Amino acid sequence: MANRPPRLGRLPGCRELCRTPAGNWDQASFKFSSRVRGSARWGSRGRGGHRQRSVGLPQGHQWYRLRQALNQRLLKPAEAALYTDALNEVIEDFMTRLNQQRAESASGDHVPDIAHNFYFFALEAVCYILFEKRIGCLERSIPQDTETFVRSVGLMFQNSLYATFLPKWTRSLLPFWRRYLDGWNTIFSFGKKLIDQKLEEIEAQLQTGGPEKAHISGYLHFLLTSGQLSPRDAEGSLPELLMAGVDTTSNTLTWALYHLSKNPEIQAALHEEVVGMVPAGQVPQYKDFAHMPLLKAVLKETLRLYPVVPVNSRVIVDKEIEVGGFLFPKNTQFVFCHYVVSRDPRIFPEPDSFQPQRWLRKNQPDALRAQHPFGSVPFGYGVRACLGRRVAELEMQLLLTRLIQQYEVALAPETGEVTSVARIVLVPNKKVGLRFLQRQS
Ligand code: HEM
Repeated sequence: MANRPPRLGRLPGCRELCRTPAGNWDQASFKFSSRVRGSARWGSRGRGGHRQRSVGLPQGHQWYRLRQALNQRLLKPAEAALYTDALNEVIEDFMTRLNQQRAESASGDHVPDIAHNFYFFALEAVCYILFEKRIGCLERSIPQDTETFVRSVGLMFQNSLYATFLPKWTRSLLPFWRRYLDGWNTIFSFGKKLIDQKLEEIEAQLQTGGPEKAHISGYLHFLLTSGQLSPRDAEGSLPELLMAGVDTTSNTLTWALYHLSKNPEIQAALHEEVVGMVPAGQVPQYKDFAHMPLLKAVLKETLRLYPVVPVNSRVIVDKEIEVGGFLFPKNTQFVFCHYVVSRDPRIFPEPDSFQPQRWLRKNQPDALRAQHPFGSVPFGYGVRACLGRRVAELEMQLLLTRLIQQYEVALAPETGEVTSVARIVLVPNKKVGLRFLQRQS
């Protein structure tokens, strides 16, 4: 067995393996593990594109150094909480934009494509956090360079599947690879412009007031002034961080509202919890969420049903590893099917139904109280897990609270049944139209 490791696909207990981070499958094993290029959303940009280093693409020691720098001010819950005001500012504009759209619809409450709205919200939010600059995604008329940037993100995503899976020799013959690189190039130029602006700002502060007068305002400022990340590192890392932070939260929020609109009794219970903590007219704060278990359960259940990254993989590059009694040589690629694992009926009874209450301890029969800790791992695990987890959770909690506080959300009649499709990340197979019915305060 040790000499001839079996292929993963033939293992009888493949699901077990996916849920086995204990024992040898620990953080140390992952320290310099790599994602396989092209296996998920972090495809290779290769030659011809920008060659800056980035948090998504680099491997081994180079990645580890960058990741250590970026972890600070993003991953610790208390640090992420510092972004509450910035996020609430963006949410305020989102609520205004949503209201305008409702008012312009025939029924006065209809929004035909909520994922589209959440996409612009998430982009504005993550840009504001990373670059400390509002880029106007939620304005009635979007500024020209923001529009070009948004179009490039679309271009990059639309072509990423072809760019990743078509053989290399097709790249000069078919248009996809060129379009994919063009998309990335515009994304990186946009990021570079924002970083240059920030550097000029810091420079001006230093010249007028000296180091003690330089006011460390946000994430980019912190990174550039901490000495851990050069401007060149930042140019490589931040645009990809930005990409990772948009369709992830926007799709999760879309699925959450879709299911809440289909389950009015769950929505009513959530509304009760929300207004109990944050009465109408008040703006939620980080500390409120410690007392909002149902809100957290709704998001957990949404991510269990729709893990944004449904399939992920690792290559353990530096040593052989034993998992579940099988010995795998170094450089083995492990593929994790999170979508399948988090719908396992042995762990989650009635796995395809939306039941946030399964995450509430008091509702669980004793046998299930100790739910498998790796039954659902939507943000990944270990040193290479999601860098934006804390920000994503906060952003989704803040926005969902405001929406449920203010509106009763109902499915628009044209929407019907929605299923998921994997477009690298899991997305709805059609537009999700919703009605936002104003609640009486
Ligand atoms: C619902 C929201 C989100 C989900 C479900 C999610 C999920 C994930 C997953 C599964 C991974 C791969 C982890 C692994 O391989 O073990 C990942 C990586 C990553 N995520 Fe997220 N993510 C979300 C939001 C965000 C946000 C808002 C940001 C940025 C602000 C972000 C930034 C990143 C980055 C930079 C990586 C790559 C980390 C590295 O390779 O070092 N994510 N995310």
